[in-house]
Amino acid sequence: MAKKPKIHVCERGKHCCKRGGEEVYKAIKRELKAQDLKGEIKLEGEKCMGLCSTGPSVIVTPGGVQYGGVTPEDAAELVRNVAERGEPIERLLAKNQKKKKKKD
Ligand code: FES
Repeated sequence: MAKKPKIHVCERGKHCCKRGGEEVYKAIKRELKAQDLKGEIKLEGEKCMGLCSTGPSVIVTPGGVQYGGVTPEDAAELVRNVAERGEPIERLLAKNQKKKKKKD
């Protein structure tokens, strides 16, 4: 059986906190409820995930897709994307992921 996806949101790290990480966490939590996915997708509030320069940071596992500059307005799309196991959302990819993708 496939592992349930998990959304890790930096909500307590200093840099992400200043940029609204806590609001992103709350928005994703609301969306999981609104889309009736609380049992399907886990949500984890994190302290710092080492992606401070591109925060608010979100990592989706399995796969480890890293998103940066996420806003509460992105929550619905992000949750839908994770539920559908879609391709990573290009415009939200953290800068280092975009570079990595170009190299591929
Ligand atoms: S403070 Fe959020 S990733 Fe470091």
